[in-house]
Amino acid sequence: MSGHDTILILDYGSQYTQLIARRIREMNVYCEIHPCTVALEKAKELAPKGIILSGGPSSVRDDNAPQTEAELWDLGLPILGICYGLQLTTVTLGGQVGGGSHREYGLAKVERTEASPLLNDIPEESWQVWMSHGDHVETLPDGFKVIAKSQSCPVAAVEGSNQVYGVQFHPEVNHTHHGTTLLKNFVQGICRARADWTPESYIEETVKRIREQVGSSRVILGLSGGVDSSVAAMLLHKAIGDKLTCIFVDNGLLRLYDADHVREFFGEKMGMNLVMVDATERFLSQLDGVSDPEQKRKIIGKAFIDVFEAEAAKIDDARFLGQGTIYPDVIESQSFKGPSATIKSHHNVGGLPEHMKLQLVEPLRELFKDEVRQVGLTLGLDRELVMRHPFPGPGLAVRILGEITRERCEVLQRADYIFIEKLKQAGLYNDVAQAFCVLLPVKAVGVMGDERTYENVLALRSVNTTDFMTADFSRLPYDLLAEVSTTIINEVKGINRVTYDISSKPPATIEWE
Ligand code: XMP
Repeated sequence: MSGHDTILILDYGSQYTQLIARRIREMNVYCEIHPCTVALEKAKELAPKGIILSGGPSSVRDDNAPQTEAELWDLGLPILGICYGLQLTTVTLGGQVGGGSHREYGLAKVERTEASPLLNDIPEESWQVWMSHGDHVETLPDGFKVIAKSQSCPVAAVEGSNQVYGVQFHPEVNHTHHGTTLLKNFVQGICRARADWTPESYIEETVKRIREQVGSSRVILGLSGGVDSSVAAMLLHKAIGDKLTCIFVDNGLLRLYDADHVREFFGEKMGMNLVMVDATERFLSQLDGVSDPEQKRKIIGKAFIDVFEAEAAKIDDARFLGQGTIYPDVIESQSFKGPSATIKSHHNVGGLPEHMKLQLVEPLRELFKDEVRQVGLTLGLDRELVMRHPFPGPGLAVRILGEITRERCEVLQRADYIFIEKLKQAGLYNDVAQAFCVLLPVKAVGVMGDERTYENVLALRSVNTTDFMTADFSRLPYDLLAEVSTTIINEVKGINRVTYDISSKPPATIEWE
């Protein structure tokens, strides 16, 4: 974003590249990630205060290893190479990297060998770091010195002339102690980047940018009530007020009270132009008799577009479409590894047809999810909304296994509401990443009072994860599970048995369909 001191992060394919960016943003310093293939071009275009070269899975000794023009190191900008970034720096500037006997994965202890601005404020005694490398630096380029070593890695951190630094370990991961201090030393000490990237500055600049982009035209936005579309709505509304129209499509597969909350907050409290469409009948009739999960997703995706398009057509001068794209989507679509490796196709539901001829406005394009939340809070959204667990686009359709009926939807909505309320009362809602109920297509025998029952089985799912790519089931207290089970069976007619899903991802997934 223009106007901010910027740190350029070049991606050589490490799984931790986004983590580097998040650590820097946490210091309120602006940074951008770009693929290593455009290193020099971006270094010139962005005029960054410094550059970080990420790690990566390649070996600099391979023929097709990613290279970067040596001119990058001649620009006079501070550079920090991490793992592969250090090895690339070494060979590019005339040193040597070897492989084989020094492979090191996991925790190691490093100790300082010389004072360096990169190691300021890190205690004298040895400290723990996370190592993950097959190659190692054998000979340093001219003008470089070792500033830290570990037992099996004699070159754990280096300082070169001209403000070039490198570390063999990963300062961005939590396992590395003092990693944030080291990154701060580089970003704020060596690069002298200003810490002016705050929610307030983002809001101010984005509001200005939206006004410039859309002028006096009307913007329409699909508002689901989830975090991203809600924050996008708040930003757009602040920028253009009445020129924003939000469209909320109730597909009948939402959580209990979702539609009410959207109406009350965005329509009544914020006074936004809000079109609420109750399309329950349409979605449920199209889903009638359908059990296949992918088929359900397709039907819902298409029905959403049809309804949205029909509503949008009623809005006269709409020329722009607001979208809640966030920074990880942007990075992944331009990823060094290529988009196919990282994007899950089922998460792209909701793209609108090109013939609608709407230009995109993407007010969250620069933000990580935690920054979206911060901006949302600053704009006055409730903490409860901002901290809400993610909810899949196809909604309860993928949590009602087998056929979907209005009755089964209602049963699941009520059970899910109870589970989530109990989690909140126990103070555990914010400790887990996602929790919900799943209605199974199985009936079981039970006994209530003196009567035999033959009713539905419900599964509770709660997972802990940070990236949703892997997840573990939450170790919820037995007493809480017991209370949830009893309350659901007593209060939700149609359920007589509750189970708890104890599978992790992989091999299971978070959702059941
Ligand atoms: P899985 O089930 O793949 O879920 O482990 C990972 C995360 O993605 C969400 N999810 C979806 N989100 N449309 C969405 O918008 C979908 O079709 C969909 N399927 C799964 C899921 O809730 C979890 O957060």
